[in-house]
Amino acid sequence: MTTIKDVAKKAEVSIATVSHVINNTRYVSPELTIKVKKAMEELRYQPNAVARSLKTEKTQTIGLIVSDISNPFFSTLVRGVEDTAMNNGHSVIVCNTDETLVKEELYVDVLIQKKIDGMIIAPTGKSDKNLEKVYQNDIPMVFIDRQIEDIEADAVLSDNFTGCYQVTRHLIELGHRRIGLILGLKRISNTQERLNGYKKALSEYGIKYDSQLITGGYSKNDGGVEAVRIEGGIKAVNRLLALPKTPTAIFSTNNLMTLGALKGVINNGLRCPKDISLAGLDDFEWASIFEPTLTTVAQAPYKIGTKATELLFERLSKPDQKYQEIRIPTVLKIRNSTTLNY
Ligand code: RIB
Repeated sequence: MTTIKDVAKKAEVSIATVSHVINNTRYVSPELTIKVKKAMEELRYQPNAVARSLKTEKTQTIGLIVSDISNPFFSTLVRGVEDTAMNNGHSVIVCNTDETLVKEELYVDVLIQKKIDGMIIAPTGKSDKNLEKVYQNDIPMVFIDRQIEDIEADAVLSDNFTGCYQVTRHLIELGHRRIGLILGLKRISNTQERLNGYKKALSEYGIKYDSQLITGGYSKNDGGVEAVRIEGGIKAVNRLLALPKTPTAIFSTNNLMTLGALKGVINNGLRCPKDISLAGLDDFEWASIFEPTLTTVAQAPYKIGTKATELLFERLSKPDQKYQEIRIPTVLKIRNSTTLNY
């Protein structure tokens, strides 16, 4: 097996110089760096990652915790993180919580044990209980998609308020006055922001807020865990259509719930948009393909992922810089599923 000693001998430098080149721990002239890298290449030398991390106290690894990896929003976001991390010489460990606090706590522990350099997380809780340890271990953390208000950390989030305000206004301008709203889990910070955007549009047009039109789109999955998925969207529409005065339009705040909502409309013998208009948060490839094409409020998950990773690297190099909250704008894409209320 090739050792660091063999590399030093071939490059005609000391072992310490080879080590500094590998670990980037001290300045080494460009000529010597090239000699060492050439020798490593010729001898096919692979530095021992564990030994290296013991020396630098860095593992070149970041942890990423998302709440639902099967949701295209999160898988696209993961790509943004991975591409940016890789361009910066880091690997990513991806963990999925299924919106459960138990899994979140478990993965936080695992990532701390793996000595990650930093963490990017879409927290599933409302309090800092699970995340205290991250601070105690001095691990920089960036929130994505949602945040925990009493924790000071960098955050990259969608402009949920404006996005939901704009789509509600769009529906009102089409003549809708009874607009059903399907929301995600109450404890997640973006749920309140989305509701506030909806309320602002209603109040601007003098439409009375009716809490009966607001419903949750989450349902228990196979493991008994509450999650925002297709099934939840179907059930939410069933509840809205069972009201004495049904809505003429529905806005659903997550891609999977929107698919469920559309199915729910069809199951109830209604046609979209003729009988009821439907708009959803999250744009996805099929939204512009199937009929009716869907009006959506597009979030930018890839951008959220890249921005969050850049922010994490910034924090790693400047630990004392001021915390930043970056809001990524959403885009209203008007398609066929929303129409005039006759
Ligand atoms: O579909 C993705 C969205 O659904 C995210 O913003 C997430 O918070 C969930 O509500």
